[in-house]
Amino acid sequence: MFEHMNWGKKNRLGSIVAPDGRALMLAIDHGYFMGSTHGMEKPAQAIEKLLPYVDSLMLSPGILTTCIDPAFDKGVVLRASGGNSILDPDIDDEELILSAAQAVRMNASAVAVSIFVGSEHGHQTIMNLTDMIAQAAEFDLPVLGVTGVGKALHDRKEKRYLSHAARLCAEMGADIVKTYYCEGFEEVAAKTPAPIVVAGGPKLDTYRDVIELTWRAIREGAIGVDMGRNIWQSDYPAAILQGVKAVIHGNASVNEAMEIVNELSTPENARRELFKVTDQDIADSAVH
Ligand code: R5P
Repeated sequence: MFEHMNWGKKNRLGSIVAPDGRALMLAIDHGYFMGSTHGMEKPAQAIEKLLPYVDSLMLSPGILTTCIDPAFDKGVVLRASGGNSILDPDIDDEELILSAAQAVRMNASAVAVSIFVGSEHGHQTIMNLTDMIAQAAEFDLPVLGVTGVGKALHDRKEKRYLSHAARLCAEMGADIVKTYYCEGFEEVAAKTPAPIVVAGGPKLDTYRDVIELTWRAIREGAIGVDMGRNIWQSDYPAAILQGVKAVIHGNASVNEAMEIVNELSTPENARRELFKVTDQDIADSAVH
């Protein structure tokens, strides 16, 4: 998959993509435009019990340096585009928020840049990606291209749009592409000559939905997930995460993974207990 790359890039990608060719990335970068999101009120506490089960973390530079122990030895995918907020009319007005050199100084395994293809600031976001790819090439730093949709493009999470946006990421030179799962996802994967990880999106109704999304995405060509809210907004985050892991790294069926999730959905694994959030924390955080 990464044979054509230099040693430095392969080495960095090795902390994101496991030897089995699969990737379980936990996304906690939402605060970069959402602020204190429901479930991620206290990032350090929220992820403490989840870290053993992930290959890498996707997060913003400020959360890395304030909430993550420097001894952390898994992959770090640093969000490198931003400057937007959910309080803006839309979220596509992004620029680069850090350089490749800064990311290397923080020992990032990769940087992530979003593109919002077809939106008002679409061109600018694609140029953010190409700018970062050029900078990152100096350091053999991998780049994750993210297909964002935002408010205006919200209903475009379908195969025609996502094939187009994911292909653009790959054409620009992204080493990994993050997009959404959709009906007909095989086509998105087939038309994207770069490995794909899928986001989870807003919280789904049931754990089975989350496991099925993961299982289908893998079966239809994704190498893994970059999943956030469906893990840490759930009542039993470590349980659903281990179910997702069983599908990604253990080739578990949906039923097998659900057995794991159900078995681990115990009071001591409950989010309130694990994340040490209070009712006030929850009331204060926005729900998205
Ligand atoms: C969105 O732009 C963020 O970068 C998230 O990392 C991404 O959406 C994945 O998280 P979720 O599974 O919550 O959608």
